[in-house]
Amino acid sequence: MQFNTIIEPFRIKAVEPIRFTTREYRETALAQAGYNPFLLRAEDILIDLLTDSGTGAMSSRQWAGMMMGDESYAGARSFYRFEAAVKKITGLAYVLPTHQGRAAERILFGTMLKPGDIVPNNTHFDTTRANIEDRGATALDIPVAIARSPQFIAPFKGDMDLAALETLLTEKREQIPLVMLTVTNNSGGGQPVSMANIRGASELCRAHDVPFFLDACRFAENAWFIKLREEGYADKTPLAIAQEMFSYADGCTMSAKKDGMANIGGFLAMNDGALAEECRNREILGEGFPTYGGLAGYDLEAIAAGLEEVVDEDYLHYRIRSVEYLGERMDAIGVPYIKPTGGHALYLDAAGMLPHIPWYEYPAWALALALYVEGGVRAVEIGSVMFGHQPDGTEKPAAMELVRLAFPRRVYTQSHVDYLAEVLEYLNGMKEEIRGVEMVYDPKVLRHFTARFAMR
Ligand code: F0G
Repeated sequence: MQFNTIIEPFRIKAVEPIRFTTREYRETALAQAGYNPFLLRAEDILIDLLTDSGTGAMSSRQWAGMMMGDESYAGARSFYRFEAAVKKITGLAYVLPTHQGRAAERILFGTMLKPGDIVPNNTHFDTTRANIEDRGATALDIPVAIARSPQFIAPFKGDMDLAALETLLTEKREQIPLVMLTVTNNSGGGQPVSMANIRGASELCRAHDVPFFLDACRFAENAWFIKLREEGYADKTPLAIAQEMFSYADGCTMSAKKDGMANIGGFLAMNDGALAEECRNREILGEGFPTYGGLAGYDLEAIAAGLEEVVDEDYLHYRIRSVEYLGERMDAIGVPYIKPTGGHALYLDAAGMLPHIPWYEYPAWALALALYVEGGVRAVEIGSVMFGHQPDGTEKPAAMELVRLAFPRRVYTQSHVDYLAEVLEYLNGMKEEIRGVEMVYDPKVLRHFTARFAMR
């Protein structure tokens, strides 16, 4: 007998209470936070879907491993265990631990980039872009065209436009010190990249003698999508698929706060020994000695165990299916979102849901506020508040007005998802009443973190 209910592939050993509040309480809390969910106290939130980064639950095995952490300054046993776990998956020769993903980016770009350089990617994540721009270089997004059509259903909307990459490498080779590919494509809806695309990008880079790096934050989710969707991979294990993905790369940056299943950590890995040496020297300046890289020995243990657990088929099935299940519930009630659902998040299409709110009254921000007031759920706006401010001081609408519902790993159960679907159904029923907002404090840099608003 085939049973269809997706049950969480774990039982719960430690619990952390979440706090129920009233609608009135949340209205006051939100007003006090200047109508900015980033400024709420986490205690006042029932279900927190702000990010999947560092917010996951660790296993009893990871916690037990932490007691085994070797806190030696240099050459700790925990480093060698961590290094072996990273090498098993990536096959890359040199592994540098870092305190999180952006530290790996900073070391890599600090070593490889100079002003005027260009770094192509399917879509750069904000910190990647910021670290490249900090070097005076250009972060160039070249996703496939369908990535920009929210309703278009395709298996690998995270792919890079290889024709565009080829043109760039032919015409501007001298300005391109490396090419990156982000798996899965977070800023593009959490969509996966196909093995064919990874291989294709790698072949182009090799033909032009340019190093090819993966931004590997969600490599296991990407491997699972390849297993489900790409011909020839159905019978392969997620580990074998991940190993093939990395076999095409010359290096990677990684935030272990995602598919490392840890609350903190990351790494930089590569095959080029001379480059590794330069990166290690830079690492010592900011992160620490290269066998701990800004982490405690126990963090290295947690990541080593997390990397083993993240490629478990039952886990990945539950993980991807949970988000897909929320998508099915949204289909049933007619709430628009980026299709198909991504690996770590569902991205609500607020412009489609709230056409009565113009972009300059920030429909996605307004939807995120309503989600909190009505349901106690926190999500993040990815729209004109985050991206509308232009370098020349003007305002322009973002390409899309999205609310990202990111799922922390192994934290919430199906009943939390059912509750969320119920809240969204309610919001959809009263959507004409949802009002836009006015930005009353508009900080010039990364304004979504600290901006303040008034209700329209
Ligand atoms: N690359 C990608 C694709 C990411 O999603 C992130 C973080 C990073 C790099 C940076 O890693 O946070 O460890 O320094 N994304 C989080 C998010 C913050 O909410 O999507 P980090």
